[in-house]
Amino acid sequence: MENNRIRVMSVFGTRPEAIKMAPLVLELQRHAEIESLVCITAQHREMLDSVMEQFGVTADYDLDIMSKGQDLTDITMRVLDKMRAVLREAKPDVVLVHGDTTTTFAGALAAFYEKIPVGHVEAGLRTFDRWSPFPEEMNRSLVGRIATLHFAPTASNEGNLKRESVIGDLYVTGNTVIDAMAYTVRGEQFTSPELNAIDFSGKRLIALTCHRRENYGEPMAQIFTAVAQLAKQNPDILIVYPVHLSPVVRDAAKQYLGGIENIHLIEPLDAMDMHRLMAKSFFVMTDSGGIQEEAPALGKPVLVLRRETERPEAVEAGTVKLAGTETDVILRLAQELLDSRDAYDAMAKAVNPYGDGHACPRIAQAILHHFGRGEAPAPFVPGSEQ
Ligand code: UD1
Ligand code: UDP
Repeated sequence: MENNRIRVMSVFGTRPEAIKMAPLVLELQRHAEIESLVCITAQHREMLDSVMEQFGVTADYDLDIMSKGQDLTDITMRVLDKMRAVLREAKPDVVLVHGDTTTTFAGALAAFYEKIPVGHVEAGLRTFDRWSPFPEEMNRSLVGRIATLHFAPTASNEGNLKRESVIGDLYVTGNTVIDAMAYTVRGEQFTSPELNAIDFSGKRLIALTCHRRENYGEPMAQIFTAVAQLAKQNPDILIVYPVHLSPVVRDAAKQYLGGIENIHLIEPLDAMDMHRLMAKSFFVMTDSGGIQEEAPALGKPVLVLRRETERPEAVEAGTVKLAGTETDVILRLAQELLDSRDAYDAMAKAVNPYGDGHACPRIAQAILHHFGRGEAPAPFVPGSEQ
């Protein structure tokens, strides 16, 4: 601890981690008692750089590990190897990781090997199925064993950690994604030329994303078959799908959805345009984790293209439905939302079980508290203003 400042190193590498860690980095920078360092693994390159630029966050260390079509062992080995040197040079007092990616797991393990305490942001989400989401459920659970500070978004996430008897300090903070939306949800005008070229007039818009590893192959084929059918049987809808840069996803999207007039396959969007697209949409179809949290805050119904979710709060609130990965079920649920005003209204309500926009200040306060500088933060309680 040089100059008596707490050295906090935030480690992240993919788009969703960056969106949810950027507001925290900006918050940490506001505290005189904290020296904020950023280490990006660049497990994602272009999709990460876009977020860094948009939030104005710069990296002190860039491991630049991405390779085209990388597998999980590649990512884990490269992160572990390169993090060791960074941690030995920077000597942080605490390392923060986010969520459930392989950067998260390998980053936490690298810190543990250097005996540096780990703070886990977005801790305690569980599906209780080790294979789904794969490998994220296991990554998140393993980091729960490693971490000393656990920042659980919701009380139910904290409950999962308590049942597992994780070691360390637990805080209910809300999800930093809601803090991020204070930066990103601005204006209606798109910056993407591809979006600006689309004629949205008189059409109902469906925003689609699909990228998860457990959906590779047959589930993705079934999902895309449903989407293609939906587009063909409803000429009055427009489906916009910013396609993830993974070659597996791009090939499948092109194969099943290419050449259909009312489906637009476009490049990944920056976070602001993505949030504008969701705000403009009639409803959202996705297998993304983060979008399941954002769309309910925007009052948009979500059909989740997965067998289960580690985010049950919005399902319980009624704005998110688990549609699974079978063509018939997805098609039926989507068609119902298009045809039935009652079904639509039952889902289209703004709910915010995930946060109140103050998760980042709570996490900063908890870190200061851990190092003996002040009180612990009051927990996040949905529906009550701080
Ligand atoms: C990763 C995370 C997943 C998260 C997703 C968010 C793991 C195991 N998975 O999955 O939890 O939901 O990020 O998007 O950590 N690529 C590029 N440029 C980019 C990003 C990706 O070219 O900016 C391509 C590369 O060919 C890369 C491939 O996409 O090899 C897959 O990326 P990877 O990080 O391995 O997996 P994701 O499916 O993105
Ligand atoms: N997102 C984005 N551009 C896109 C698609 C998604 O900025 O083209 C944002 C989305 O709004 C959310 C985050 O990326 O904030 C989610 O990332 P992703 O779906 O890749 O990962 P997951 O949340 O499933 O881990």
